[in-house]
Amino acid sequence: MTDASHDRLLIIDFGSQVTQLIARRLRELNVYCEIHPFQNVTDAFLADFAPKAVIFSGGPSSVVHENSPRPPASVFNLGVPILGICYGQQVMMQMLGGTVEGGKISGGGGTAEFGRAFVEPTAEHIALLDGWFQSDNDREQVWMSHGDHVSKLAPGFQVFGTSPNAPYAIIADPDRRFYAVQFHPEVHHTPRGGKLYENFVKIAGFTGDWTMGAYREQAIAEIREKVGDRKVICGLSGGVDSSVAAVLIHEAIGDQLTCVFVDHGLLRLGEAEEVVAMFRDNYNIPLIHADEAELFLGELDGQSDPETKRKIIGRLFIDVFQKYALEIEGADFLAQGTLYPDVIESVSFSGGPSVTIKSHHNVGGLPEKMGLKLVEPLRELFKDEVRALGRELGLPQSFIGRHPFPGPGLAIRCPGEITREKLDILRLADAVYIDQIRRHGLYDEIWQAFVAILPVRAVGVMGDGRTYDYACALRAVTSVDGMTADYYPFGHDFLGETATRIINEVPGINRVTYDITSKPPGTIEWE
Ligand code: XMP
Repeated sequence: MTDASHDRLLIIDFGSQVTQLIARRLRELNVYCEIHPFQNVTDAFLADFAPKAVIFSGGPSSVVHENSPRPPASVFNLGVPILGICYGQQVMMQMLGGTVEGGKISGGGGTAEFGRAFVEPTAEHIALLDGWFQSDNDREQVWMSHGDHVSKLAPGFQVFGTSPNAPYAIIADPDRRFYAVQFHPEVHHTPRGGKLYENFVKIAGFTGDWTMGAYREQAIAEIREKVGDRKVICGLSGGVDSSVAAVLIHEAIGDQLTCVFVDHGLLRLGEAEEVVAMFRDNYNIPLIHADEAELFLGELDGQSDPETKRKIIGRLFIDVFQKYALEIEGADFLAQGTLYPDVIESVSFSGGPSVTIKSHHNVGGLPEKMGLKLVEPLRELFKDEVRALGRELGLPQSFIGRHPFPGPGLAIRCPGEITREKLDILRLADAVYIDQIRRHGLYDEIWQAFVAILPVRAVGVMGDGRTYDYACALRAVTSVDGMTADYYPFGHDFLGETATRIINEVPGINRVTYDITSKPPGTIEWE
């Protein structure tokens, strides 16, 4: 759904771990940008994309090595501003006539630099640095992470910022509007890095026309054009992405959309009722509530291997969805809440297949099997933008701000065999825990919080009697994208109060533990 009516910035990806953060910084400035791996950026691509500015990302390669990644030389003839970051700086220098020296990692004699550094301005000032050096002693903290470094500038370039180990920390050819920095302005450890991006897009003439209001209008027009008078089915999970997609599509095509909500009996307390009330009653969206708990729990009976459980749920989910979808006459399209991070084709230097840690549950393969075309109106958005779009569409904040919930639901929070008894205990314990978190005003600080019921029973004493009940683990993590996570540092008072409440209010649990494993080495879910 690329739209040429917005000014567009092109990020050429050379494989940095943090390229997505560049895009996020730009989107925060209401600038529309796309990330494309360097291999795909050809002369023809550049002509077609017509960027108003270009950013070269960092990357793990060394320009001193033959066949290291390069952008096409024609990028320098577009007449648009270019910003090179780290590897992007080195590639810019190498291609424009400067010199790059290899660090130890790439076999050279130079020193590598990883971590915090402080950049100071040189005598002259450029627009890129407007309002940047603000701290008392006129220096700014930045994050360095490079092996190689520039040792001679290309003709036309000058130095505008230095650090003790990086004489070419900020360089530019202001006439051609080519800028390059050795550090990473997109990461958190460059606290005022956002200002550099703000100045860069200002230099390029961006007007900040990428707003959610504009996106909503454009997306609605495109859905109408694509779907015409045909029907669309949408699998609702109760999560933010599929909900926002459904409300947006409903706004575009009304009753031509039918939602299918597969209730596998592994949802949280009151969740199915909430989803049905919200979509059917509040939004008046035609909704099929497929209550298939018996089927799922029946097939899961006696299964304790995590991958087997996931595979059973994944298979049944597709079967059930297909069964209900086939009942909707004339459905040609399947709506999915695919997000931009799922779409970005990232640069892979390893070449080999990565190890499957967990087989994620999705409806992959279903569109081909059923001959359906896809409608994916969130394909260009990051998660926080989906939330902004949800707010724009009037979805309640309580819904938009919800923690992510996995497709296999409580099954992966119930290690070992799943029984109805354990699920009921888990639902209640989870509800008490989340209530505690909300009461303490911590919900929005946490990426995800839940209870896992453990496959062990423990001996306890309540009143004068002996108990022999389940132990549970509380989990709460902070994260940006779920790929890495830290456990949330609750105070002891909170933990003590929560444990007491769970043991008092949830029959079947007599022991509460707090899981303090980060990811890696753990994962967020227990299975
Ligand atoms: P892990 O446990 O792999 O989880 O650290 C990372 C994030 O992904 C969610 N998750 C899933 N989401 N289908 C989903 O839609 C799945 O099969 C699935 N497994 C894990 C998990 O809740 C966390 O947010």
